[in-house]
Amino acid sequence: MIKTNGFAIWFTGLSSSGKTTIGLALEKYLAERKYNVKVIDGDVLRDGLNKNLGFSIEDRNENIRRSAEVAKLFVESGFICICSFISPTHAIRAMAKEIMGAENFVEVFVSTSLAICEQRDVKGLYKKARAGELKDFTGIDSPYEIPLQPDIIVETNTHELGEEIEFIIKKLKELNKI
Ligand code: ADX
Repeated sequence: MIKTNGFAIWFTGLSSSGKTTIGLALEKYLAERKYNVKVIDGDVLRDGLNKNLGFSIEDRNENIRRSAEVAKLFVESGFICICSFISPTHAIRAMAKEIMGAENFVEVFVSTSLAICEQRDVKGLYKKARAGELKDFTGIDSPYEIPLQPDIIVETNTHELGEEIEFIIKKLKELNKI
């Protein structure tokens, strides 16, 4: 295994923006190069640890607080912890950063536009939200605050997955993380 200081790569962006896909591809890239890497993902944690939480701002806060605490355990054990959460507000992301420690936190904004996310609609949830069947849906009737100073911005509208991974790796090297 390659020894690195643990840190979190925190993907934020709208539903269907590509956070999970990019996170998994990045995990594969790093694992193949013998890094200790772990993925944690909103959809997965909401199926277990965070099962009792919904999508009000309070519940999203608690979802992120718990998830960041889990990520912190991996970071403290020397893992690169890839975290994929909508984490829609400045305050929520600031909390995650504070829990992990700013020096251990790389914020990656997956900047796919709402129009493209809605077109992809991987889980059919935008359609439901537009039809009024799903309340508090991020980007529709619940806010997404665009990160002001992310460490990395990924443009999925114009780039292929392989290019995105190369770009993130280049940035992580510039940040002296790997
Ligand atoms: S967060 O806002 O609390 O960070 P998280 O990333 O854990 O959200 O979960 C988002 C996932 O939950 C989405 O990808 C989607 O599959 C599902 N989901 C269900 N209802 C909503 C909703 N109202 N708003 C956003 N995502 C929702």
